Amino acid sequence: MRKSQYVSMALIGAIALVAGMLSVATAAHAQDNQAGGALTQHKLPELPYAYDALEPYIDAKTMELHHSKHHAAYVSGLNKAEAELAKARAANDYALVQHWSRQAAFHGGGHYLHSMFWTIMAPPGKGGGGKPTGALAAAIAATALVAQATLPIVSGDGFDTELVTTVPGPELANDVYFSTHTYREDTRPEVLEFIEAYQAEYCRPPENAFAALGFDAVGMIVDAMERAGSAEGEALRDALAVTKGYKAVTGEITYSRPTGVPVKGVSIISVKNGQYKVEEVWMPEVE
Ligand SMILES: [Fe+2]
Repeated sequence: MRKSQYVSMALIGAIALVAGMLSVATAAHAQDNQAGGALTQHKLPELPYAYDALEPYIDAKTMELHHSKHHAAYVSGLNKAEAELAKARAANDYALVQHWSRQAAFHGGGHYLHSMFWTIMAPPGKGGGGKPTGALAAAIAATALVAQATLPIVSGDGFDTELVTTVPGPELANDVYFSTHTYREDTRPEVLEFIEAYQAEYCRPPENAFAALGFDAVGMIVDAMERAGSAEGEALRDALAVTKGYKAVTGEITYSRPTGVPVKGVSIISVKNGQYKVEEVWMPEVE
């Protein structure tokens, strides 16, 4: 839904960057020509994948149009502009030098941007596909906040990181909502005990639910070892599989469903003016 906005913002930045790079490149190239160097013939690069490889996100027709029409036209436009520029220079026709310099910058920009565009995408399973998670997802949100996006941003537990507030700064870190593992503002004794112990050990409260989650993972393995009376692989696996009522910090863990996903609470966290707040703790009914 918001992807197009992120792409647009990234593109505007890229265009500005490339325009800067290009004016330097064109100036350097112009000097080469003046010194009598041969003109470089720019070529349309081959796509690193088939036109339909990015479907269903980008259809084959769109890719073909951008590659065989747009990009090809920029490449031939750049070649022509550079050839004409050389002629204008040789004729000392400064009005034409200015005209063809602008044409070279325009077509060169299109060529560079399209070339970059093809290589920053990849088909699913070959470096592309899936949804951004973790720090990447948070960084995308942070970028949107830095650009002063005025839309609410909603996500899952990948947003449970300080990046959401430290990157844009507290004034711009607004209107972000995400779900995560429950433990903050939960008054179960195991939660209070964990926060106190963490604070004593590290002199600060746990930064997010992942601290509790990591603690729970290790705690569950220890619990299974104790029940199995062994640390041997198979015995440990069997003991883990029948975990019942383990009082983890992030919720009570019982493996009762075929999916292996325990029934646990979910916290909805909001970020306003750089402050995280638990808006709601939702507890599912035990099946
Ligand atoms: Fe295009």
